[in-house]
Amino acid sequence: MLLHVKNVLTADELRQARTILDRAAWGDGRATAGVQSAQMKNNEQLPQDGAETRALQQIVLGGLNRHALFFSAALPKRVFPPLFNRYGGTANAFGNHVDNAVRFIPGGNGERVRTDVSCTLFLNEPDDYDGGELMVEDTFGAQSVKLPAGDMVLYPGTSVHRVQPVIRGQRLASFFWLESMVRSDEQRRLLYDMDTHLMRLRSSVGETDAGVVGLTGTYHNLLRMWVDV
Ligand code: NI
Repeated sequence: MLLHVKNVLTADELRQARTILDRAAWGDGRATAGVQSAQMKNNEQLPQDGAETRALQQIVLGGLNRHALFFSAALPKRVFPPLFNRYGGTANAFGNHVDNAVRFIPGGNGERVRTDVSCTLFLNEPDDYDGGELMVEDTFGAQSVKLPAGDMVLYPGTSVHRVQPVIRGQRLASFFWLESMVRSDEQRRLLYDMDTHLMRLRSSVGETDAGVVGLTGTYHNLLRMWVDV
């Protein structure tokens, strides 16, 4: 499932993030790429352990933590500490690849994250650059994603994807992965659909309606059946 999660960051948080990104020292994006994807990858990235990265991670994780739709869609168990990249000039694209299935958390004493869901959070506006679309291959063909600043796309970690060359300006984004409490994309999607429809139903017929209570129970019982906490 590809999902557009809106308004993860506020305008104020985006301004703070941009100030930090502007003064940060960027490095080669290949630092976190596998052998195969390193050949396709041509962008810049902030060092994983820098002070700027840590400050930016606080902002992004704060936005995620208060976002109910993100939680409902991703059912996160472990979130990889967000990374930050920049595309532009001569370091402007990332060809087709699949992300590594398992990521070690930097400084995490061997703690690992299975990358069930890939996330890209856009940190500047689509008008700031030409190109730079995230192209995600799915069963319906390649989906092109270029979102407003502060918005995020979630897509299955299993997807082949790429970033189109940025031919004007700079594209700034945060990217990371998460391990979900529900491993299957299909099951996660079903739960998300059900939760979304239940929220609609609650607002139209109220919390105490017998049907709402029953279906909420069914949601939780499905989740209980599939969840791994
Ligand atoms: Ni990738």
